[in-house]
Amino acid sequence: MLYLKDLTYHPPAVALPILRSINLELAPQQMGVVVGPSGSGKSTLLEILAGLAEKTKGEILWRDQDLLPVHLQQLAGLVFQFPERHFCGNTILEELRLGHPELGSEQVQQALMEVGLEELPLKTSPYSLSGGQQRRLALAVQLIRQPYLLLLDEPTAGLDWSMRQQLVSLLERLKASWSLLVVTHDAGDLVSIADRCWTLSHGELCPFEPDRQRSVVNYVPA
Ligand SMILES: Nc1ncnc2c1ncn2[C@@H]1O[C@H](COP(=O)(O)OP(=O)(O)OP(=O)(O)O)[C@@H](O)[C@H]1O
Ligand SMILES: [Mg+2]
Repeated sequence: MLYLKDLTYHPPAVALPILRSINLELAPQQMGVVVGPSGSGKSTLLEILAGLAEKTKGEILWRDQDLLPVHLQQLAGLVFQFPERHFCGNTILEELRLGHPELGSEQVQQALMEVGLEELPLKTSPYSLSGGQQRRLALAVQLIRQPYLLLLDEPTAGLDWSMRQQLVSLLERLKASWSLLVVTHDAGDLVSIADRCWTLSHGELCPFEPDRQRSVVNYVPA
């Protein structure tokens, strides 16, 4: 269970805090969605939860353990916005093993299965994949590390309608095994599968009830 208590982020060079007294709870196998406009602090929140930036004030707890950035780097897996722009491997296998040469073929296959890419040859170039497949590979790159918390920054940005539906259905499946926290400016598809929803505005987080009217189609692997 992830708890944020009174989390504030106020870098010295900035006049106003970027995140203000944020309180949030997310249980295992839950998906939380934070919806906010550009500049509201969504990516900053994920960077702090991924241990890439340090909070100014407040607590980040996993169960009752206080988490430092070094713990968060182990616990969380962050999928950046447009993750395909950061691919470095020449092949799917290289991409999955970057920084983790110890990972065996079983772990590689398991991660690819999680995201529905197990049919693709491992020597395929990440750049030859479709936009939706690239997003799923970026998810697999994090899943192979077995994080407790998966953080996703605008996971459906730039995808067409059908790829978006596939990704939303995939995220719905993934939450059976992981805690997911997604930030987006577009509430549409993601709120319908969320367990917890918040709005973020000028660094302030407010809960709202997710709409249970679902419009998501069944997941179809490519
Ligand atoms: N380290 C920092 N120092 C100064 N300002 C920062 C820092 N990090 C973020 N900001 C500012 O904080 C605000 C929130 O930025 P952030 O990138 O988190 O917004 P966002 O909600 O992700 O926006 P978008 O939807 O455009 O991606 C912006 O005004 C940004 O310029
Ligand atoms: Mg952002």
